[in-house]
Amino acid sequence: MNPNKDLWEKGDFTRIAATMRESGKSLVEQLGIKPGLKVLDLGCGDGTTALPAAVTGADVVGVDIASNLVEAANRRAQELGLANCRFQEGDASNLQQLADKTFDLVVSIFGAMFAPRPFDVAKEMVRVTRPGGRIVMGNWIPNDPTLVAQILKISSSYTPPPPDGFVSPMTWGIEDNVVERFTAAGIPADSISFARDVFSFNYPGSSSAFAAEFKNYYGPTMNAFAAAEMAGRAADLQKELEELFERQNQSADKTQTSISPTFLRVTISV
Ligand SMILES: C[S@@+](CC[C@H](N)C(=O)[O-])C[C@H]1O[C@@H](n2cnc3c(N)ncnc32)[C@H](O)[C@@H]1O
Repeated sequence: MNPNKDLWEKGDFTRIAATMRESGKSLVEQLGIKPGLKVLDLGCGDGTTALPAAVTGADVVGVDIASNLVEAANRRAQELGLANCRFQEGDASNLQQLADKTFDLVVSIFGAMFAPRPFDVAKEMVRVTRPGGRIVMGNWIPNDPTLVAQILKISSSYTPPPPDGFVSPMTWGIEDNVVERFTAAGIPADSISFARDVFSFNYPGSSSAFAAEFKNYYGPTMNAFAAAEMAGRAADLQKELEELFERQNQSADKTQTSISPTFLRVTISV
C-alpha cells in the first residue's frame, strides 16, 4: 500500500484540472519552449502543462504516480493527435526509469511537492536535467490566504495527524526549505530564484458547486470529509469550504467561479 499513490488515485483529479487549463497554457507560453526541447513534466496529472508544451513542439515525457491520471493524459494526447509526448507512471522521489542528464527542462506544477522524501525529489530532478538546463516548480505556500493553501489547511484540520516523520508538502512553498533541498542536490544557492505568481481556476458554475467538486473528486478534501463524517463534523467542514470558495470567487457573475490563488514559482539553473 502506498498512501501517496492512493491519495491521488482517489476521486478524479481531472475534474479539478479541467478548470486549470488557461493558466497551464499561459505558464507554458512563459517558459520559452522551442520545438524539439526535451521536457519532463513531473506530477503531470492529466497534462495541464505537458500537453500545451507538446503542442508548442517540445518532446514531452509526463510522469505521475496516479495510474488513472496517466491514462487520462495519454487519452488527451491521443485526442489531440500528439505523437511527441508520452505519459508514464512513476514516483518523483525515485525516477529510476529515467536516465541522467536527459531533459532541457523539468517542470513540476503542484506535482512533485506532493511526493514524500523532498530531498530525494530535489536530487532526482537535478539528476535527470542536463547541465545548462532548467527546473521550474510551482508550489503552494503555507498559510497563504488564497484558495488552495486554505483548502489544504482546512482539510488537514479535520484529518488525523500524519505519521511521525511525515514532511508536509507545503514546506515546498518555503524558500529556505527549497534552497536547502536543492543545495543538498549540488545546486549553488545563487542558481535558485523565486517569484510569486497566480494560477487561475475557472469553473462554469457557482462557488458552492465548485466546492462540491473538491468534496467529491479531490483526494485531500475527500479524506477530510471521510474523517469529519466519522467525527460528526462534516457539516462544519462543508460550511468552512463553501465560505472560503465564496470569499475567493472573483467573478462578477456569481453563476460562474473564477479564483486565482498565489503560488511560489521556483526556477533553477542546472
Ligand atoms: C495537484 S495535482 C497537479 C497535477 C498537474 N501538475 C496539474 O497542474 O494539473 C498533483 C499531482 O501530483 C501527482 N503526484 C503526487 N505524488 C506524486 C509522486 N510521488 N510522484 C509523481 N507524481 C505525484 C498526483 O498524482 C497529481 O497528479
